[in-house]
Parts: sequence; C-alpha cells; structure tokens
Amino acid sequence: MAIVDDLLPHEVLQQLLSELKQALGEGEFHPAHIGHGVAEYRISEIRGDKIMWLEENALTEYQRLYFSFLDELREHLSNYFRIALPWQECHLAAYPSGSFYKRHFDQFRETNNRIFSVILYLNENWKPEDGGQLRVYESDGHYDIDPKMGRLVCFRSDLVEHEVLITNKPRFSITGWIRRDEPTPIFLG
Ligand code: OGA
Ligand code: MN
Repeated sequence: MAIVDDLLPHEVLQQLLSELKQALGEGEFHPAHIGHGVAEYRISEIRGDKIMWLEENALTEYQRLYFSFLDELREHLSNYFRIALPWQECHLAAYPSGSFYKRHFDQFRETNNRIFSVILYLNENWKPEDGGQLRVYESDGHYDIDPKMGRLVCFRSDLVEHEVLITNKPRFSITGWIRRDEPTPIFLG
C-alpha cells in the first residue's frame, strides 16, 4: 500500500474537482455495477457510488494531465516490477452521503487483468467525522485512510481487500486500474 500526499499541484486538484462536479451536475454519472450479471436491486447493498468512465479521446485538459501522470506511474511500475502493464482504465466516482462500498477486492472473479488500483481523492477539508475512510484489511486486522484532497493511494488490485466506510458527506475521487492486458472487444451472438 502506497499513500502519497500532495503529489499533484493544488490548481490541478481544484480543476479536477470542479470538472467532476460539473459532469455530475450534468447527469453524466450512472450507478456503478459489480462484476458481471449481478441483479440490479442488490447493487445498492454492496456499493452506492455513481461513476463516470473516462474515455481517452474525450478528456478535459486536466483529466488528460492526470492520464499522463498515470501513464508515467504505469511505466515506472512496469519497469520496477518487470511486468508488462500496457493499459489503464479510469473513472470518476461520487459517493452520496450515506453511501459505502462493502469489503471487496478490485478483481473480477473470472478475470485477473487488474494489477494496481490507483485512487486520487478530491475532498477538501475532510474531517474524521465525515466518514468515508478507505478501510484496508490485513491478515491481523485493519487500518483506515482518510480520503483527503490530493491524497493518492496505490495498491495491488488482487491482494488488498478493502472497503469504503459510510460517508457522511458527498465524497469524490478518481479511481484507476493499471492492467496487464489491453481489453479485448466483446462480440455478441
Ligand atoms: C473501488 C474502491 C475505494 C475508495 O472503487 O473499487 O474500492 O477509497 N474505491 O474510493
Ligand atoms: Mn475497490
């Protein structure tokens, strides 16, 4: 688990946040799904965030900046661990007050292509009583991370079990996954 604060300039964080809020206000977010084929009515019992996937060809100026930061991080991790990491995917996330994401791994059961999870938090003046901590489980217990503005966390998608505790305020972030393959197109019929 890597936790890094203040890696990105304040101005970039502010812009990412205001663009996120704008897209949210324009109805660009939709309720997140879990895995494949999970009945819709059960989803809110597991996670209550709304998301907007970022498409590489439709990024704002500051989202593009964040993407190139992720490119650099991906290349660094690839070199350091000597594994091919050709792809990343990324979405904006908004947790309404009262929402959470139950304990899980970031890996679909039937695939193993996500290697690193990277989350950038965009919550100004976050206080412990606001809730929404990222709870990280270890073999002998757990610890909590405050989702405060500019904090970046990076962890192994398949190894680190985690949860988002109930948030008492709207909670914003950008979540990305660094993958070991490029997504294959799905052909139907
Ligand atoms: C996720 C997730 C954690 C967080 O989106 O898979 O676990 O702190 N997010 O936002
Ligand atoms: Mn997760």
